[in-house]
Amino acid sequence: MRHLLGIAELTETELSAVLDRTAKIAQGAIFSFAQPVALAFYEPSTRTEMSFVRACQMVGASVLRLLPERASVVKGEGPEETLHTLRAIGARVLVVRSGEPLLPHRLSELGVAVVNAGDGCHEHPTQALADLVALQRAVGAVRGLRVLVVGDHLHSRVSRSTVRLLSQQGAKVELAGPPDLLPEGFAEMLGADHCPDLEQGLSRADVVMALRIQQERMGQTVVADLGAYRRQWGITQERYLGLRQVPWLMHPGPANLGVEIDSELVDGTKSLIRSQVTSGTQVRAAVLSLLGEEVA
Ligand code: CP
Repeated sequence: MRHLLGIAELTETELSAVLDRTAKIAQGAIFSFAQPVALAFYEPSTRTEMSFVRACQMVGASVLRLLPERASVVKGEGPEETLHTLRAIGARVLVVRSGEPLLPHRLSELGVAVVNAGDGCHEHPTQALADLVALQRAVGAVRGLRVLVVGDHLHSRVSRSTVRLLSQQGAKVELAGPPDLLPEGFAEMLGADHCPDLEQGLSRADVVMALRIQQERMGQTVVADLGAYRRQWGITQERYLGLRQVPWLMHPGPANLGVEIDSELVDGTKSLIRSQVTSGTQVRAAVLSLLGEEVA
């Protein structure tokens, strides 16, 4: 694997290698990548950035952490020039998060291995891999599993990556959400189905994943009444615990607690939300160590 840019670009062979290595890392195996890794997060992050820092520690890589608000970014230096500079300092892998779709793809042509840590509303491949691993650990194979993903699909890179990956793996994925946030044809584009009725979708789901309302990315499609959203589309205690068969519960985080998901559900017995974070760290260590074999 030379880069990890998106689930759309990930081959079956690369996916198998990542899953295999993630399983070994989870069992305590150590893979070394003693090269500098640069983390350039132009958008805020807790889970992804901190788990990449931890993943670097796990594989023995040194971390060059660019803080855009304290870097020459504020003097107008663009990401290409920043990457050339980081490379001259010694970085062999760049992990980049940006609001600009396809920025990681552009940077991948500059001679450094690139990992997409989220590019605008486009993709978030390591989140999708973390979600797949967390789910496999809970249920085994995902083929045939009924997964309902609810919320703001329009602005969600997680939806684009995770839905695509789970569909590719044979899960029966359905997408639900307000029409403004779930455009026509969106589900089909990712190999999923549109679910027009949340209650019906929930009644047949083995897994439900809530997505964050991304107010910061909304222009005119802003959700003005969050209470109304919760009543209509929220995974509330009443709605979720009232199901005859309670499904596994996922959320990529960060969650708007009390809006798309009730806070009381986050640590419930069938919640995988913490497990998604843990598997994310292991997946990222696996990805870095696999990239390291190419750049060594
Ligand atoms: N899921 C996710 O990308 O979370 P962060 O924004 O905290 O990294």
